[in-house]
Amino acid sequence: MIDSKSQLIDRYGRKVTYVRMSITDRCDFRCVYCMDEEMTFMPREQLLTLEEVAFLLRAFCELGVENIRITGGEPLVRRNVDWLFEQVGKLKQTTSLKELNITTNGSQLVKYAQGMKDEGVDRINISLDSLKPERFKELTRTGELNNVLAGIQAAKDAGFEKIKLNAVIMKGRNDDEIVDLAHFAIENGLDISYIEEMPLGQVSHEREESYCSSDEVLAALNNTLELASSDMTTGGPSRYYTVKGSKSKIGFISPHSHNFCESCNRVRVTTEGRLLLCLGQEHSVDLRAIIRAHPNNIDRLKQAIIDSMKIKPEGHDFNIKEQPVIFRHMSVTGG
Ligand code: GTP
Ligand code: 5AD
Ligand code: SF4
Repeated sequence: MIDSKSQLIDRYGRKVTYVRMSITDRCDFRCVYCMDEEMTFMPREQLLTLEEVAFLLRAFCELGVENIRITGGEPLVRRNVDWLFEQVGKLKQTTSLKELNITTNGSQLVKYAQGMKDEGVDRINISLDSLKPERFKELTRTGELNNVLAGIQAAKDAGFEKIKLNAVIMKGRNDDEIVDLAHFAIENGLDISYIEEMPLGQVSHEREESYCSSDEVLAALNNTLELASSDMTTGGPSRYYTVKGSKSKIGFISPHSHNFCESCNRVRVTTEGRLLLCLGQEHSVDLRAIIRAHPNNIDRLKQAIIDSMKIKPEGHDFNIKEQPVIFRHMSVTGG
């Protein structure tokens, strides 16, 4: 028998307490930094079923995982996603799970926010790269800003207290909105993270040209806001700053300029059940094969997860100047 309290610890002594689970590679948006205009999505039979996802997440939570983030593509376009939230939400009563979170583009929140709150979702992260409707459409190729703004309001109305916005800043495309996005977050009582674009999958622009470092973003903000660095953490790679006179926190996710691999606490599971040990590397274990070869054998699955700790790489080596070495689009791993 496997000790259900055993911890997941890798060769470098890092404890894995956080799982990012992508439940679909599909999305109703086509953000320019994430997808190509024409995308081929995974055939549905290759996806884990939601029952398999729930089983897998139970195994992780019985091994000491404390934080699960459901991602996509856009997770809320997956049918019956509310059933999954309910199943995983219940694990907080029986396992080490403390938080069930989701990252979404916000387009479906008007429909789902209240249900998610009732089903035990704790925190929502919402992508928002522009407050200008036309530019928003340009950056997401298909998105309607008003739907997302209504979604953010719906999440607030449903009682979510910890809502974080994510903004990927690109030179010449939305870097003139850095300050406006911060003001929007502050006025709405939200946190915001600024993200450096990562070279995952082929997209239609040169990433080197659009690259905007977190230091440049911080400099723009420092002109109008009084920021102070803080040691606060949400278990993710954001470095947070507080804003004088506001409860909002401003975060920076800087995989290029401030590598955070040495404190990595996370693994990802792709839509088709591949356990990825690092976002920027290909080391992986096919958990779907194990689940399908040994249905309902949770000990077998848990052993495979424990064994995978031996191949978690030390870190990524993203290089914005080169063609991507990682051909997966972000939508397959959910970030
Ligand atoms: P919290 O749990 O609230 O800390 O969330 P988060 O900010 O880590 O998650 P979110 O889903 O909002 O992702 C924001 C950005 O962080 C996305 O662009 C992710 O790709 C990126 N990100 C999250 N974890 C990692 C990581 O381990 N490595 C890298 N390079 N990027 C990451
Ligand atoms: N680089 C950085 N962030 C990205 N995201 C999607 N693709 C990329 C990329 N190539 C962000 C989205 C979303 C989060 C899950 O990942 O904006 O907020
Ligand atoms: Fe969809 Fe998110 Fe990718 Fe945009 S970044 S296309 S919202 S998965």
